Amino acid sequence: MLTKEQVIELLNPVRDPFLHTTLEETDGIKSITIKEDKNHVSVKVGISKLNTGEQMEMQQEIVGILKKNGATTVGLRFEQLPVEIIRKYQPAVEQAQEASLMGGSTNTKFIAIASGKGGVGKSTVTVNLAMALMRLGKKVGIIDADIYGFSVPDMMGIEERPVVRGKKIIPVERFGVKVVSMGFFVEDNSPIIWRGPMLGKMLNSFFTEVEWGDLDYLLLDLPPGTGDIAMDVHELLPTCKEVIVTTPHPTAAFVAARAGQMAMKTDHEILGVVENMSYFESKLTGEKEYVFGKGGGKKLAEVLKTKVLGHLPLMQPYMEEDVFAPSVYQEDHPTAKEFHLIASKIVAKIEE
Ligand SMILES: Nc1ncnc2c1ncn2[C@@H]1O[C@H](COP(=O)(O)OP(=O)(O)O)[C@@H](O)[C@H]1O
Ligand SMILES: [Mg+2]
Repeated sequence: MLTKEQVIELLNPVRDPFLHTTLEETDGIKSITIKEDKNHVSVKVGISKLNTGEQMEMQQEIVGILKKNGATTVGLRFEQLPVEIIRKYQPAVEQAQEASLMGGSTNTKFIAIASGKGGVGKSTVTVNLAMALMRLGKKVGIIDADIYGFSVPDMMGIEERPVVRGKKIIPVERFGVKVVSMGFFVEDNSPIIWRGPMLGKMLNSFFTEVEWGDLDYLLLDLPPGTGDIAMDVHELLPTCKEVIVTTPHPTAAFVAARAGQMAMKTDHEILGVVENMSYFESKLTGEKEYVFGKGGGKKLAEVLKTKVLGHLPLMQPYMEEDVFAPSVYQEDHPTAKEFHLIASKIVAKIEE
């Protein structure tokens, strides 16, 4: 007949399937009852996530161990571990998972750029935020994950295609920023129909099949809205933070709020709101006209309990003859200076 002490000794090395930490460390053996007459052992076990396939496997493992060591019947109940325990072990697990996606590099911070709908400037913000971070001396990459509306290569004026070295794709480097886009893998711009599982796989490939090197920041230009891909990002990159882009119109902000709520649901920290196309400034009089209304960014930030990181005017980059990158604002351009401020706020927030 097993004793309580023996049961503890037998089950202590069993690992929580999500925290990859032993029951001894998580203090996961909650109670043990032994009925000697029936040779029955019942155990209550704390686990980090309830009602999953992994829980079933753990159940089989525990029942197997106890039966092999003499119990005739085993009763097993699960309860959720206290949040403090989960919080203590979770970050290490998440970082290890992300580091393995990045080929072992542990420094990379992930920022997803999201919006409620298309056409609000999400890609413009992604590209120019990347440029601003690069100008701050950071090593930066972009994943153009907007599979239906990939536009980063065109915006940055990228004409090359990535090369393959060994089994890995080498990102294209433009102005010192590394870029991978769905657009690189599509023939003659033809639209592609993607379904859920392919989406998840695509995102995964953008990590595991790409040689990113040691990046400080990896920006993700997400498709507009709140679809599956937000969940995929959360699965792959649990520490990913988000920047939400909106236009100043209050209804646009309302739409963007849904993207923000998605971020909150998936536990992604929202770094702030960028209000794009905030105003048009007359070159002649210097007067600002609020073409698309006013207050959308502020309202959205309130709903999401975050801050407005910056307001971008309606303005094109300077025309240049020698460099073709139609959506990249030159360093001395007023919009680039606004992006510099936004990037500095983000760096301060993330690197503290
Ligand atoms: N602040 C701005 N001033 C002028 N044009 C802009 C500005 N922001 C975006 N645009 C233009 O608006 C269009 C939509 O922007 P884009 O970044 O592609 O949006 P999204 O990625 O959200 O669909 C693009 O043609 C872009 O060049
Ligand atoms: Mg876009």
